[in-house]
Amino acid sequence: MTKITIKTLLELKRAKKKIVALTSYDRVTASLLDEAGVDILLIGDSVGMVKLGLSSTLPVTVEDVAYHTRQVSSARPKALVVADMPFMSYQVSIEEAIRNAGRLLKEGAEAVKLEGGREMVPIIQALRKIGIPVMGHVGMTPQSVHAFGGYRVQGRSKKQAAAIVADARAIERAGVFSMVVECVPSGLGKQISKSVHVPTIGIGAGPGCDGQILVVDDLLGLTAPPLPRFAKPYAHLRTTIKKAASDYSREVRSGQYPGPAESYQ
Ligand code: KIV
Repeated sequence: MTKITIKTLLELKRAKKKIVALTSYDRVTASLLDEAGVDILLIGDSVGMVKLGLSSTLPVTVEDVAYHTRQVSSARPKALVVADMPFMSYQVSIEEAIRNAGRLLKEGAEAVKLEGGREMVPIIQALRKIGIPVMGHVGMTPQSVHAFGGYRVQGRSKKQAAAIVADARAIERAGVFSMVVECVPSGLGKQISKSVHVPTIGIGAGPGCDGQILVVDDLLGLTAPPLPRFAKPYAHLRTTIKKAASDYSREVRSGQYPGPAESYQ
């Protein structure tokens, strides 16, 4: 069992091997994803929408991410554990960004992720300077949902595309070890991946990225439809769970469960 580190990810990009990432929020799922050979487990601020019933990622707190980071890291995964920095946990001041990133590392994260481009350079540099690895996030950055007027594909115009490439280059220069590229046209996903030396992890950014990430509940078919276009379910656990619960209900109500096999004589 070889631990995945930020160095491993750079080697994978150089060797043109794809990087596999998933979000993860709890210990059992983290263990299973890790056993399956996933390279990166991200405690995304998507936890707000996926697990906490919130309508966006904006209300998610450092406490929320810290709690789920503790659970995921308790699985002691071989995968790199990355924790998302929630909205307003890094934008106000460098001091706050350092304090909050440090908190997430104390909970077991091995790196933090933050959204944004050129405007985030001083924050990324400050975190890097004190030894906290930072993953960037460009393109459709969900914490800016209101500025975008909804969860829309970004970078469709030449001007927008050039701005996103400039953002990706700027955060690479500032020291990110990798970056998520979200919801941009495939051509732009590929162009960004060729423009930077660090690995790009795409979500809705086409096959030209150096790796892919999905929200684990989308992958497992736990998310209620409609799913975004890029989210491919590889299992249908909503159906499986509902069937198990309704089979159990039927057997309890009919007296079939517990039978002799499940009872102590
Ligand atoms: O919060 C999250 O889950 C994310 C990924 C979808 C990239 O940022």
